[in-house]
Amino acid sequence: MKRRQAIKTIGLAGAASLILPKLLAKDLLAQANLELLKLDFGTGFKWGVATAAYQIEGAWNVDGKGPSIWDNFSHKKGKIRNNETGDIACDFYHTYAEDLDLVNQMNMDVFRFSIAWSRILPNGTGLINQKGIDFYNRVIDTALEKGIEPWLTLYHWDLPQTLEDKGGWANRDVINWFSEYVSLVANSFGDRVKNWMVFNEPAAFTGLGYMTGTHAPGKKSLGKYPKAIHHVVMCQAEGGRILRALVPDAQVGTTYSMSSIHPKEKIKKHENAAKRMDALLNRLFIEPALGLGYPSKDFTYLKEVEKHMQVGDDQKMIFDFDFHGVQNYFRIVATQSAFPPVLWANQVKPVHLVEDKAKLTDMGWEVYPQGIYEVIRQLSAYKGVKKIYVTENGAAFPDQIENGKVKDIQRIQYFKDYLGEVLRAKNEGAPVHGYFVWSLLDNFEWAEGYHPRFGLVYVDYETQRRTIKDSGLWFKEFLK
Ligand code: GAL
Repeated sequence: MKRRQAIKTIGLAGAASLILPKLLAKDLLAQANLELLKLDFGTGFKWGVATAAYQIEGAWNVDGKGPSIWDNFSHKKGKIRNNETGDIACDFYHTYAEDLDLVNQMNMDVFRFSIAWSRILPNGTGLINQKGIDFYNRVIDTALEKGIEPWLTLYHWDLPQTLEDKGGWANRDVINWFSEYVSLVANSFGDRVKNWMVFNEPAAFTGLGYMTGTHAPGKKSLGKYPKAIHHVVMCQAEGGRILRALVPDAQVGTTYSMSSIHPKEKIKKHENAAKRMDALLNRLFIEPALGLGYPSKDFTYLKEVEKHMQVGDDQKMIFDFDFHGVQNYFRIVATQSAFPPVLWANQVKPVHLVEDKAKLTDMGWEVYPQGIYEVIRQLSAYKGVKKIYVTENGAAFPDQIENGKVKDIQRIQYFKDYLGEVLRAKNEGAPVHGYFVWSLLDNFEWAEGYHPRFGLVYVDYETQRRTIKDSGLWFKEFLK
C-alpha cells in the first residue's frame, strides 16, 4: 500500500531510483502491475458472491416444495457423477443466516441467488406455496439486515417438473407460465430487491438440457432444442418487461455464458468453426434482445430456430436491459463445428477443446485469464449494452482441508489474474460495474456432483461445517 502511494506521488522512475540498486525499474514496473487494489476498480464497483437455488438449498421436498427437473434428473441412476443429488446440498434452506454471515465476513457487498420456481409454485402455475415465499423473505431480510444487497436470478435451471411434463421450454405456453411466475416473484420481493437477472446462461441450459442431454431434463432432441431456444428468447424479453412494470425502480438484467473462441489454426475450416461456435454460444441470446435477430447468417443451422417465430415475435424478443451479466469459465479453441450431429454422435467430444499444455482446473477447463478481457470487450462493443457485471467467474481446484485451513493458492492466483484482466477491460473503457465470484460455497456442481469445489468457503458435506478458504480470506483482505 505504502509503496503504491509513493509510486503514485513520485512516478515509477522516481520510485525506482529510491529503491535498492538491485531492484531494477523494470522489476518495479512488473510488481506495480501485479499489485491489485480494490480502489483501482472505483468506489461504486460491486463485489459479490453468486449461488443458485438447486446447487445449495437442499430441502428438495420440504415445506410444500414441488419437484423440479433437477430433482427428477438427479434421482435417475447414471446421470450424475457418483449418483449424487441436490436433496441436501449445502442445506442452505436451514443455514442461510450463517452463510450470509460468511458473505459479510469476506467483505462482499452482494449476494446473488436464485429462486426455485417449484418452491413457490409447486406445480409451476396456480397454487402458491406461502412457506416457499416466506423462506425467500427470510433470506432477503437477513441479507438486508446485514448490509448485503440481494441480487435475484429468476431462473437458474430448475424448471418445475409438472411444466416439463407438458413440454417444458419446448412448449410455447411456457411464455404464459413464466409470466405468471415472474409476476409472483416481482410482487413478492420487488419492494426490497432492486437488482434482477431474468436468466442464468440460456445457451447452457437449452444446449445441455435439450440437445446434449447431459443436464436436466436430459433430452437429446433436435426437434425440441430450437423451439426451446426461441421460447427462452421470448421469455427473456417478456420477463424484463414484467419486472420493469412491477418494480419500477429495479435494475433489470440477465446473464450470459461467454467464452473467447479462437480458431486453432489460421485456416478456413477452423475459422469457420470458430465463427459458428461464437454465433451459437456467445451471440444467440443477446442479439435478438438487442434487436439484431438471430445470428443465422453466421450459422445457418439457426434458421431452424427462426422457423418457430410467429408474426410479431421479432419485436417481442427485444428488451432494453439495464445491465448484462457475463460469465466466463474457459476458452474454446475451435477445429470443427461443435454441433450435432458431430458432437452428438461422438458423445464425449468436449466443446471447449484446449491447447495441449494448457493449465486445467478440476473441471478440465483451461485457465486463460485473457479470455475474460476478450469477452468483456466483445460484449461492450454492442450498441445497447449499457452496464456490464461479471456475474460469475471462478474455478474448481482439488482443495484439501488440513488443521482447519484450506490453502488454495492456485485459486488466489486465478482471481488475481482474472481480476487484472477485468481491470484492463475497464480501464480501456468497458462499462464494468461489478464482479461476483462463483461461488460462495462448495456446492452441487450439476452433472459433476460434489466433486468439483468452486467455493470461497469449504463445505464438509458430512457435517455441513463451513471453513473460509485462503482465497476467501484473500478477498476479505483485498476488500476491507
Ligand atoms: C455456470 C453455472 C453455475 C456453475 C458454474 C460452474 O455455468 O451458471 O451454476 O455451475 O457454471 O460450473
